[in-house]
Amino acid sequence: MSDLLITNIGQLVTNDGRDDDLLGIITDAAVGIRGGVIAWVGSTDAIPTELGTLPMIDAGGIAIVPGFVDAHTHVVFAGDRAHEHAMRLAGATYEEIQTAGGGIYSTVAATRAANLAELVLGSRGRVARMLASGTTTVEIKTGYGLDTETELKMIDALDAIDASLPIDVIRTFLGAHVVAPEYRDDRSAYVDLVAGEMLDAVSDRVDFIDVFCDDVAFSLAETERIIEAGRAAGLPIRLHVDQLSRSGGAALAASVGAVAADHLDHATDADLASLAAAGTVAVLLPGVSLTMQEAPPDGRRFLDAGVTVAIATDCNPGTSYVETMPFIIALAATTSGFTPQEALWSATAGGAAALGLDDRGVIAEGKLGDLVMLNASSYEHLVYRPDGEVVRRVIKRGTPV
Ligand code: NIG
Ligand code: FE
Repeated sequence: MSDLLITNIGQLVTNDGRDDDLLGIITDAAVGIRGGVIAWVGSTDAIPTELGTLPMIDAGGIAIVPGFVDAHTHVVFAGDRAHEHAMRLAGATYEEIQTAGGGIYSTVAATRAANLAELVLGSRGRVARMLASGTTTVEIKTGYGLDTETELKMIDALDAIDASLPIDVIRTFLGAHVVAPEYRDDRSAYVDLVAGEMLDAVSDRVDFIDVFCDDVAFSLAETERIIEAGRAAGLPIRLHVDQLSRSGGAALAASVGAVAADHLDHATDADLASLAAAGTVAVLLPGVSLTMQEAPPDGRRFLDAGVTVAIATDCNPGTSYVETMPFIIALAATTSGFTPQEALWSATAGGAAALGLDDRGVIAEGKLGDLVMLNASSYEHLVYRPDGEVVRRVIKRGTPV
């Protein structure tokens, strides 16, 4: 059923407001959806007669918000790194964890070793839990293969998950996550592989190209080389930048017109001004700071600088094993200087902007019928009850999940 009429919505967050009303809240609202697309939004006492034939849900006065758009994840992976986090909590350094066989390379080894069925089986449950907690669109990166065969296997897994769950998967090629282990002594050969054979093999099957631009991954010059090749292959750009130190990645993202620049813990005020001027969306990831026991991102700085801000889980086995957007919304509001309204906007409309999608993140005529019904009468419960149990029911393209 992709036709649906939801009535008696106590509080509807549309994100379709005016300047002084970021969330565009309508009380006593109703939403009509036809063919998975929103056909009408308004007050329950003004429902057009022709919508009366649609299958109907009475929301009983609860709040409804747009489906969450999780714009940065590495949720497809194999292996288990729980012990690594236990070591970190006991004081181990990044190098000690790496030496003990942890870190990104351990996930690369496990992902290479898994066959497609194992990779899908291990990852699909995580994506299903994302959906159950209200995420209706998720970006997922490759980058645990680091060879052409395994990067393609990861894309096969993304296709399989997209086809078998009612969630939209946006695919990002991250062959430049770190230098593949067999190329550690010949970095430039690995950059050639990513920008050449690997990109050729994947470019028709992905939506974005991404590079981890940082001291432990790729230099500014290497990043430029890879995104130039990606651009030539027709892929829009998103980048991991200025996470562990300020390497100038945010400035590069702005100068190449990247759709999004992510992490940004060490971005300067000048970097923020460049992002704002370029219209590059900043994707902030408070789950990483929590896991890594670091200072949370300063969302207020970005918002006050006029940058469009998204928040995302960065769900990955090393630095943020977080599946639920409500938890990230609560973290953003309690630790990162967002107001509750800004946190919710950044998890919905902001996430859509970070993926260059203008058909979602907003509840308005012509947008996708992606909605989250809450177990609460106001959206404020999202920042008040951080365990994610605040989500009652998810509706994807007009179909209750
Ligand atoms: O977004 N920053 C780089 N990559 C991931 C971590 C991946 C991992 O540790 O497996 C991130 O934090
Ligand atoms: Fe990441």
